[in-house]
Amino acid sequence: MRKKIVAGNWKMNKNFEEGLALTSEIINIAKDELKNQAILVINPPFIHLNSLQKLIPQNSNIRLGSQNCYHQKSGAFTGETSVDMLKSVGVQYTIIGHSERREYFNETSEQLAQKTKLLLEVGITPIFCCGESLTIRESGKHLEYVAQQITESLFDLSTEDIQKIVIAYEPIWAIGTGKTASSAQAQEMHAYLRTHIAHTYTQEIAENISILYGGSCNPQNAKELFACADIDGGLIGGASLKSRDFITIAQSF
Ligand code: PGA
Repeated sequence: MRKKIVAGNWKMNKNFEEGLALTSEIINIAKDELKNQAILVINPPFIHLNSLQKLIPQNSNIRLGSQNCYHQKSGAFTGETSVDMLKSVGVQYTIIGHSERREYFNETSEQLAQKTKLLLEVGITPIFCCGESLTIRESGKHLEYVAQQITESLFDLSTEDIQKIVIAYEPIWAIGTGKTASSAQAQEMHAYLRTHIAHTYTQEIAENISILYGGSCNPQNAKELFACADIDGGLIGGASLKSRDFITIAQSF
């Protein structure tokens, strides 16, 4: 059965003290109140990873993730962070291809394919983001567009490796806007992507891949979204910065 995952994308928020406080709160509330088997992934800025890792109890369902990695293994790439470095501080998940990175840092499908391979080589689970702009949705071509993003970056993977990927569908028009996709819109996309994966690989493989929804997911709408057959959790931005909201979302399965 595929995993239920709620991943918090802190983006460029929280200084060190604030990051420590937020992580401690999440750990404590989850320990006392989280009754399901959901995996919680905390994705703070790189600079906090090493310290926050030390707070996370070994036997908990909380995992450490990063928001990015570089697409080359090592070398003269000033300011970048490699998958080996991430692995060495206990990172287990890495978000790649977030729409903010695609847009502001010109990340390409090819670079994302490289990142995916490097992450899998060191045993880190990629959380591969995809999603369409409002213009594309209004053109009616959103399903094909997002399927194409997945094809371009992931479909070179072997049948074994594709099953190690987590996909996060995040319509750009819903990110940070307070405008969530309806559960019907999200379910339609998730089901379409699963079928798309099944056509290239197999139905069984497609059934094993967790597909998360992201974009203004919050404690009020998470239950309805997570109740959909093909939605396996969420990638949470704004609401992941408040421990209580983040845990309430994780309790929504
Ligand atoms: P949001 O961000 O929840 O604040 O809309 C989601 C994301 O960008 O991952």
